[in-house]
Amino acid sequence: MVDVTDSHFRRVMRLFSRRCALYTEMIAAEALLHGRLDLLDYDPVEAPLILQLGGCVPQRLAQAAKLGEERGFAAINLNAGCPSDKVQQGSFGAVLMKDLPLLGECAAALCEAVSCPVSVKTRIGVDEQDSEEFTLKLVETLYRSGVRHVILHARKAWLKGLSPKQNRSVPPLNYERVYLIKRSYPDLYVTLNGGLTTLEQCQTALQRVDGVMLGRAVLDNPLLLTGVDESLFAEGNAVLTLEQHLERGAALLEQLEHEGRPAHLALRHFINLCNGRKGARLYRQYLSTHLKEPHSAVVLRDAFALLEHKSTM
Ligand SMILES: Cc1cc2nc3c(=O)[nH]c(=O)nc-3n(C[C@H](O)[C@H](O)[C@H](O)COP(=O)(O)O)c2cc1C
Repeated sequence: MVDVTDSHFRRVMRLFSRRCALYTEMIAAEALLHGRLDLLDYDPVEAPLILQLGGCVPQRLAQAAKLGEERGFAAINLNAGCPSDKVQQGSFGAVLMKDLPLLGECAAALCEAVSCPVSVKTRIGVDEQDSEEFTLKLVETLYRSGVRHVILHARKAWLKGLSPKQNRSVPPLNYERVYLIKRSYPDLYVTLNGGLTTLEQCQTALQRVDGVMLGRAVLDNPLLLTGVDESLFAEGNAVLTLEQHLERGAALLEQLEHEGRPAHLALRHFINLCNGRKGARLYRQYLSTHLKEPHSAVVLRDAFALLEHKSTM
């Protein structure tokens, strides 16, 4: 998620789940090819980490994907679903759904360029092209290009007149369409995305598809991830109290400071950690007000002290 899932965010999320795959923000292939290799920086603890690329020139995407593979990303993902104006102006993201031959070429170039897995994140349609036939044709294009993993945001993108935010809520969700894709392509790994807010919903969806992807629900409630390893990967983690999570968070912030990194960029991802607890509003206010102060770990501990109950999660 652009402006969210940077390395700091991912390091914080790894405190809560070791197993879930994490994605970078969408990184423009052109930015990498113009020397912004810093955008590929990550810490090994973030693995498994997938690089999401934005672009529409097959050879350029291929070059960028190779840079990602060299740096050890677990997989390369192509964004073919983002409807923002900026991305539309660059003719990539969701616009690629309007030119399936080009989308196929981009996907094929990626598959050829790297030996790690390649996935494409897209939607079930775009503008008036939202029929079952269209979604099937879209996925057929990707399949024929060699792609064996699609992530389907289960709503279409509406390119004119809706903001990116509206494009994440106004077009209706259609999980059945995604289930149809899985039934039609049994050997394609299909990940469902869009509107999932609980692990129970994820488990239900996983009876019909291979994977689930969560976006906003994790921003609103990062502790949702604490149940993922056990309920979705059958791997138990010690159950920690909120206080223990915060203490691990403070230790991470100290480590980031020790590494000379701007720890407040990680601290901001703790803002929603105590939602639902008595005193959460004061906690959030305190963090927001003191976010940029030095010694982020101290700020976090001080904010936590404002919660009324600290015993268990
Ligand atoms: C702030 C924000 C930034 C996003 N940036 C990206 C992005 O860079 N690449 C992408 O594929 N999707 C991006 N998305 C869309 C999400 O990945 C996801 O598809 C969408 O929010 C629906 O899933 P959800 O209901 O679980 O949030 C972004 C969403 C938000 C809220």
